[in-house]
Amino acid sequence: MKESVFRVLKLLEEAGGPISGESLSASLAITRSAVWKHIKDLREMGYEINASQQEGYQLISASTMLLPYEIQKHLRTQVIGRQMQYLKTTPSTNDVARTLATEGDVAALHGTVIIAEEQTGGVGRLSRAWVSPQGGIWITLILKPTIPIDHVFMITMAGAVAIARAIRKEFDIGALIKWPNDVYIGDKKVAGLLLELAAESDSIHYCLLGIGIDVNIKLDTLSPELRSGVTTISEELEHEVDRAAFLARVLREFERHYQVLESGEYDAILREWKSMSYTLEQHVRVNTMRNSFEGEAIDIDEYGALIVRKENGKIERVIAGDCFHT
Ligand code: BTN
Repeated sequence: MKESVFRVLKLLEEAGGPISGESLSASLAITRSAVWKHIKDLREMGYEINASQQEGYQLISASTMLLPYEIQKHLRTQVIGRQMQYLKTTPSTNDVARTLATEGDVAALHGTVIIAEEQTGGVGRLSRAWVSPQGGIWITLILKPTIPIDHVFMITMAGAVAIARAIRKEFDIGALIKWPNDVYIGDKKVAGLLLELAAESDSIHYCLLGIGIDVNIKLDTLSPELRSGVTTISEELEHEVDRAAFLARVLREFERHYQVLESGEYDAILREWKSMSYTLEQHVRVNTMRNSFEGEAIDIDEYGALIVRKENGKIERVIAGDCFHT
């Protein structure tokens, strides 16, 4: 979108009431018809703007779309989200991020966030489909980590901690983390994370952290199978929320925890993860690629593996798999 569109929007916001087309065109040194075209663009972006012959244009309400312009108003980060790319619809933000990271200068892209209003081919853990209708937060962060490769998985842990913290701070809801890295409210999933790594021997080229959060989505719009295991922020609060402000909070929390990781304080992240864990001390069934067993989830180690004590007393260390609370 052209820069001058947002200059029109800024003037409408600053006016706080009606402002004439003439004064907009004079202030921005653009024609009246360019002003009209920008108003049309803004309306298409979801801004409600009144137009009257006598008074001119008046901004009635801001867009509820997840526009970078709206997110920036709330963003308190130094690096994460300082570059954003917004797409109304795309198969998957991960694909967009991968293309950018593969073709571009990854160091310069560090912290970039790809945002989609909806995804038509969203991907979850274990290559499962990830349903991503309008109203959610579907993003991918491009990162060039300086974290050693054996601790890089902790980026997902930092992400889960950041989302749970953001939900707690923004909405006062007691969000928890279910191993490996799902965010839950009660016994329902509200968010998931997916880390993709491009590395060669022990050097990391880039990381993509895909985040999906069910925010302003009505449960009855989801399929019955999906509905039974998930919740959304708007269902929990019984009203819709400001996604832009919430995403800015998630990005801020993520930056804070990412900085802790970069300073090598892995224990601090592990401690915070454990303090919000839904899984620890629970009886669980674990399905791995090799087998399936039950037991008590007793710990998570510094590599993110779940430690389970089976009924026969034997200890299992699970690096990857699905975990069900029984
Ligand atoms: C999970 O299975 O829990 C992880 C879900 C990750 C979904 C997000 S939505 C944004 C990004 N784009 C995708 O296609 N997937 C991730």
